[in-house]
Amino acid sequence: MKVLVTDPIDDAGLARLRSAGLDVETDFDIDTAGVLEKIADVDAMLIRGTEITREVFENAPNLKIVSRAGIGVDNIDIPAATDHGVIVANAPRGNVYAAAEHTIGLAFNAAKQIPQAHMQVQAGGWDGASFDALELGDMTAGIVGLGRLGQEVAWRLDNLGMDLLAYDPYLGEARARQMGIELVELDELLERVDMLSVQARLTDETRGLIGPEEIDRFAGDLIVLTSRGGIVDEPALADAVESGEIAAAGVDVFSTEPPEDNPLLDVENVVVTPHLGAKTHNAQVNVAVTAADSIISALEGDLVQNA
Ligand code: MLT
Repeated sequence: MKVLVTDPIDDAGLARLRSAGLDVETDFDIDTAGVLEKIADVDAMLIRGTEITREVFENAPNLKIVSRAGIGVDNIDIPAATDHGVIVANAPRGNVYAAAEHTIGLAFNAAKQIPQAHMQVQAGGWDGASFDALELGDMTAGIVGLGRLGQEVAWRLDNLGMDLLAYDPYLGEARARQMGIELVELDELLERVDMLSVQARLTDETRGLIGPEEIDRFAGDLIVLTSRGGIVDEPALADAVESGEIAAAGVDVFSTEPPEDNPLLDVENVVVTPHLGAKTHNAQVNVAVTAADSIISALEGDLVQNA
């Protein structure tokens, strides 16, 4: 059986596939058009960022599973996969700690203006008075999306002493209460919190969820984005930080990656990183192995855990 791997993944995942006797082809420079040229005899795909369109499924008579070494599956046309009977699997747990830590790191870096201060000192400056840091401990944080990542972020913020609110239409009150989090509607959350942390998945429902009106309604100082771009309106956020209505933002994910002509890159108090959240060694091994195991299960006719 043939597995096509179209994005770099940790060797542990590739070794797992090969030791299961699978014929593994890697091509990391491939785009969707390139996938179309190769897909005819492929039984499984292991991907990260490659866009898997309906056309791919239409031209893949042998394809049984597309397995993503990561959480989000927004780059896979799920209805098309369903129409063609192809399993879509993800790696929902392996990089959650890494992404939660990166969220907290970005929150501190944006709040304390650490990258800006670092650059000032490296350039020979020494003017602490030019910075205006925020203190997280006294803040109320609002989390949009209390899935696995949102919950890990919440636990860490709680331990910093922050009060927590969340907006998640799919989570029950009882579970939120158990975590010491008050569930509220989005508008109320935006009006009551000092820090907004967006951990929702990108779906038709969340795309553009926090638009210019919501940015305007946000009464707090700090926004951190680490799940997916496209949920928060980037020009509106850039304007709000530029004008000082919002003191700072930390952004790891963008509507287009790498970002092109993105206004967030031009604002001093927006700290940006290149979708780094999951890129620890441990996380990369975890997600590669999980994604490979899903392929092995699917091709051996076993239950796929993360489908
Ligand atoms: C994920 O979806 O797991 C993260 O955004 C990291 C990634 O895209 O690899």
